[in-house]
Amino acid sequence: MPEALESLQQIYQDYFLLGAAVSSKTLCTSEELILKHFGSITAENAMKFGRIHPASDRYDFREADAIVDFARTHGKQIRGHTLVWHNQVPDWVFLDDDGCPVSRGELLERMQSHIYTVMGRYRGHIDAWDVVNEAIEDRGSSYLRQSKWLQIIGPDYVARAFEFAHAADPEAVLLYNDYNETNSVKRQKMIHLVQELQDQGVPIHGIGLQAHWSIYHPSMDSIRAALDDYLLLGLPIHFTELDLSMFRFEDPSRDCTWPTREMLERQAQVYGEIFALLRDYHQHIASVTLWGVADDHTWLDDFPVRSRKNWPLLFDEEHRPKASFDRVVEFSKGGGSDR
Ligand code: GLA
Repeated sequence: MPEALESLQQIYQDYFLLGAAVSSKTLCTSEELILKHFGSITAENAMKFGRIHPASDRYDFREADAIVDFARTHGKQIRGHTLVWHNQVPDWVFLDDDGCPVSRGELLERMQSHIYTVMGRYRGHIDAWDVVNEAIEDRGSSYLRQSKWLQIIGPDYVARAFEFAHAADPEAVLLYNDYNETNSVKRQKMIHLVQELQDQGVPIHGIGLQAHWSIYHPSMDSIRAALDDYLLLGLPIHFTELDLSMFRFEDPSRDCTWPTREMLERQAQVYGEIFALLRDYHQHIASVTLWGVADDHTWLDDFPVRSRKNWPLLFDEEHRPKASFDRVVEFSKGGGSDR
């Protein structure tokens, strides 16, 4: 008989919480994998502003409730994603009845009311929230991203969001979350933002590093250097959206219909190296979340190249463990853990 597959979350239980992003669809199609391998779930889209609060007078909690119910039924932790972001937020948030931009005061009220309503509904059930997502500009020397939040409220919108979130649920762990986190310029800006918040006494309890990486980038050295920098903030680190694309971000090719053996082998090697590094830093890492469960459903199927399939996760389209999975757990075979 083939050896029964071990549970990923159990193998990692002494290191950090291991989770996956889900939708109501994948809760059904990938239920077995989620139940066995992951200790927490994050709503991939269901709690984003546009989904949960599509019109000023209407919230739609159906999918988010289903995800929270699933987690509670099965004893999984839940991570909240996300409250204030420039993307997937409806226009009404920023406009008055005449279609003109609202005032700073009005937008702060709308932000507060959104945060109170969403966090209030799940208070006591959601342990950690990505309060502000992707506020930093990637390019050049500009600091904060030009978003409607910034234009209307001003740079203190980030601090205000954290204060509202803390008031809404004083027990929740509040994170600033962003991508391109190993880029040396971007990470200095991220660190600066978090330091400013800390200096102002703003309640921030962790930093979320998305980790949308590829099998080519970033190098282990740059991940290590970035972690060493973030650790100086003295905050726990959460890897919030880990996946490993088979393509370089700037690669526009469309002709790949199946992952080649070389791609799969390279991915396995890189996943193995990443998790070895994460184990090294486990005392500082609170959680690691994969941005999806298995390769049959991944946001990278359409991004950044439309209709191109991708295979960024640890389980294949048939939900079988990939070589990447084997490499992530192989340290536990034989001689016990490497701690
Ligand atoms: C960003 C967001 C996520 C998600 C991914 C793509 O990282 O934080 O919510 O939209 O992009 O799925």
